[in-house]
Amino acid sequence: MTGFETTSLEESDFELRLHEQFDDTIARDQRIEPRDWMPDGYRRTLIRQIAQHAHSEIIGMQPEGEWITRAPSLRRKAILFAKVQDEAGHGLYLYSAAETLGADRADLTQRLIDGRQKYSSIFNYPTPTFADVGVIAWLVDGAAICNQVPLCRSSFGPYARAMVRVCKEESFHQRQGYELLSTMMRGTDHQRATVQDAVDRWWWPSLMMFGPPDGDSPNSEQSMAWRIKRHTNDELRQRFVDMTVPQAAALGVTLPDPELRWNEERGRHDFGTPDWSELHRVITGDGPCNTERVARRRAAHEDGAWVREAASAHAATQAARAREGAAA
Ligand SMILES: [Fe+2]
Ligand SMILES: [Fe+2]
Repeated sequence: MTGFETTSLEESDFELRLHEQFDDTIARDQRIEPRDWMPDGYRRTLIRQIAQHAHSEIIGMQPEGEWITRAPSLRRKAILFAKVQDEAGHGLYLYSAAETLGADRADLTQRLIDGRQKYSSIFNYPTPTFADVGVIAWLVDGAAICNQVPLCRSSFGPYARAMVRVCKEESFHQRQGYELLSTMMRGTDHQRATVQDAVDRWWWPSLMMFGPPDGDSPNSEQSMAWRIKRHTNDELRQRFVDMTVPQAAALGVTLPDPELRWNEERGRHDFGTPDWSELHRVITGDGPCNTERVARRRAAHEDGAWVREAASAHAATQAARAREGAAA
């Protein structure tokens, strides 16, 4: 054996110990922090998931943002403004969490506007009426809560901690949506019909937000083993249905699924199968608003170039002044 071989053996031994430490941290349900050693696959999976999550928050500002100038009252406008602004904040926390893994935010944004990274399929549907604003907040933010509450215990520290605050804000989003819908349901026949129409359009896409069925979700198992994810897509979807059915009854709207019924034996609701070919179409770029959403994000990024340049120039001036001050 040559000395070189011994060295490489020792190195791999070292790496093995790091890997054991990582596995042990996960097994003890403790957090992995950015300074810790982690397998490349874990880092890559997290960057992809967190980036997709961040992109979804930012693109998700568009469908509702379209209603800010047309909100029916100052109160509704203020609430909607606050909600859309929260989503921007969620995107920023998440891009920061991805940066702790070594990703570069500018690069992630470029990947989004080049169509090389995805965002949630749900934001590719249009918002033709103000009832859509309420239904998105009730169903889409509601589905996001089901997905994100378990992420507060995700194994990667910065992601888990970001989710705690995000989830608090998501509950406000869902509550204000529900309140808007219950106000409309107490209004005119036309308002009630508008709410029902929006529920009919958003119900199935909301169920698709949890991703493909477990049998078709090849990365889920590894993500669960790494405790990035805590529940499978189908488990989360079931939770969402069970949580939403009584709320729909209280509102007085019908969920558009003839197979939806309580199953006494399971103690859960049975429900129909979403059209998975539609999910596939929307994810691969052929949803009703994919082109428009990405084009708008690209335009916003290009229009904002001067802001980024000015901020960098300002930061450079400040740094130079600080250096001068320290030298003096
Ligand atoms: Fe959000
Ligand atoms: Fe939200």
